[in-house]
Amino acid sequence: MTASLPTQTKRFPFPMPFGWFKVALSHDLAPDTLLTRHYFGTELVVWRDAAGRAVCHEAYCAHLGAHLGVGGRVEGDRIRCPFHGWAYDTTGANVDIPYADKPNTKARLRTFPTVERGGIVLAWYHPREVAPLWEPMEIPEYDDPEYGDYEVFEYTIGSCMQEIGENGFDHAHFEFVHSHPQVGQIEKVEFDGYDRVVLSAQQFPSSKGPVDGRIDVFGRGPGFAITRYQGLIDASLVGCSTPIDEETTLVAFLFTLRNAQDERTQRIARAFVDSVSREIGQDIPIWEHKRYVATPALAPSEKPILDYRRWYAQFYAE
Ligand code: FES
Ligand SMILES: [Fe+2]
Repeated sequence: MTASLPTQTKRFPFPMPFGWFKVALSHDLAPDTLLTRHYFGTELVVWRDAAGRAVCHEAYCAHLGAHLGVGGRVEGDRIRCPFHGWAYDTTGANVDIPYADKPNTKARLRTFPTVERGGIVLAWYHPREVAPLWEPMEIPEYDDPEYGDYEVFEYTIGSCMQEIGENGFDHAHFEFVHSHPQVGQIEKVEFDGYDRVVLSAQQFPSSKGPVDGRIDVFGRGPGFAITRYQGLIDASLVGCSTPIDEETTLVAFLFTLRNAQDERTQRIARAFVDSVSREIGQDIPIWEHKRYVATPALAPSEKPILDYRRWYAQFYAE
């Protein structure tokens, strides 16, 4: 008996993209704390040096492979392994072996360049350890006293980053999956180097009739975008995606609202946040079961999907 072979054994053919990715929130990274994370297909530790700068390494000791996040500790500008006490500096270099005269110059922890932007600790992942190719975007709302603290939502999703990001350029699914057309007047869709911008004028429904407003999206790299809403409320949604591995993504939304004190604004914001959560809940089962179609059969209006894919391809090193 013969069986037909599947033509596509993996749901998507992509490696993890390179870029800046959220690995922690700044306020979760207290001094002397060693946070453990599983991103970039490996185990990580995240900590702060004596000057307060965030540092991110692969968690496995270069000596005999102990996990630094399980019993290891921060000592000023070093972290020390729980197994035989070897210490590493912020560059990942071994700087002390308790039972040897000199450090081992070959022993090094893989270290990811790290910065903080708007209350987010971002680490630069590149499979070949190429140095950062761009600066992450600023988030002026974070330092603006008119904006409130972030409300944070996180989702672990069984799909790759590119497939999840395609959602924003797949206009037809809004009506079908989310029961509302992606209303509004798209004024500009631009892919420029590492950046992408979608500007749109929108009408938001309200009890007093439609209110004019805007939804503007500014993205840089594969893991980071800010969506700014104006009209009924002034709010920003910082969207961060981090590859857990090639097939799993952590999506975090950080929502911040301007003039959060008045009750009407609060109520509208609550409804808005609920709709964002509802919509991602509707998308997730589709993302977790679909497969990538490399040469899709598209309707004429669906060209933005191909523009997005072309732009995204630059973030793959392999
Ligand atoms: S495994 Fe870390 S010091 Fe030996
Ligand atoms: Fe969606």
